[in-house]
Amino acid sequence: MESAFLVERLRTGVPGFDELVAGGIPRGFFVAVVGEPGTGKTVFSIHFAWQGYLEGDKVIYVTTEESRESIVRQAEVLGMRLSEALSSGRMIIIDALIRDRSDQWSLKEVTIDELIEKIIAAKRRLGYGRARLVVDSMSAFWLDKPAMARKYSYTFKRVLYKWGFTALLTSQYAITTASAFGWGLEHVADGIVRFRRRIRGGKLERLVLIEKMRHTPHSLYLHRVEIIDRKGMVIRGRVDMRAEDTALPPEVARKIKEHEREYFSG
Ligand SMILES: Nc1ncnc2c1ncn2[C@@H]1O[C@H](COP(=O)(O)OP(=O)(O)O)[C@@H](O)[C@H]1O
Ligand SMILES: [Mg+2]
Repeated sequence: MESAFLVERLRTGVPGFDELVAGGIPRGFFVAVVGEPGTGKTVFSIHFAWQGYLEGDKVIYVTTEESRESIVRQAEVLGMRLSEALSSGRMIIIDALIRDRSDQWSLKEVTIDELIEKIIAAKRRLGYGRARLVVDSMSAFWLDKPAMARKYSYTFKRVLYKWGFTALLTSQYAITTASAFGWGLEHVADGIVRFRRRIRGGKLERLVLIEKMRHTPHSLYLHRVEIIDRKGMVIRGRVDMRAEDTALPPEVARKIKEHEREYFSG
């Protein structure tokens, strides 16, 4: 039997993360990185891209909510020299925010078809070799038609799968919109990494949970996440299980008790 530890895995470069997923993300996987704004999705994606550069991979990074310059600056304040990666010719950042017509690596329209076309053009430019892809975020492509999320995600994976990317695809939605329109990206994802936040003692705390990672005996626990100036993201210890994490909602608990009473008195 093949061990999960023999699968080729790509390191994310985030200290403490790869240990949670048996050494890294399996090659060829499409992983959804989800969470509310400010939880660390972009920082996590930048690490994955930078680690790819360090390991000699080809890297394509699509940015929709920030300009290319903003991504480069964010990386640099966390100690990752993305401008060096860009000038090496092994990394391309596709800017879908600025839409500068004179820039070859800028999307003119934010549509799934143009996204796919640009990614393929970038891959052709970068040439052969192990390749990483980041799309931050995918939700930008169905902003005005959230009901299309599932169909677009499926098309995206079906077309790009054969190009052999290992991909991180972020999704930025509030819990409420997700339940109203269903999960788009999660349906096609080989893995789901969920970032969360909470306030503890008046302080913002970030957390991460691996909700799904095919072929992998992954951690089932919430872990604390820190983002440190000039250093970047670090995964800290496990968050201890608390009663409210496992307790049934009061309404459900009440109904179960009622049924039990009926059953035993009858
Ligand atoms: N240099 C830094 N030092 C400390 N924290 C930083 C630094 N740069 C960014 N951060 C933290 O990272 C957060 C941004 O995370 P980001 O990955 O952009 O979130 P998301 O993409 O999920 O919206 C900021 O709100 C800030 O808390
Ligand atoms: Mg972001």
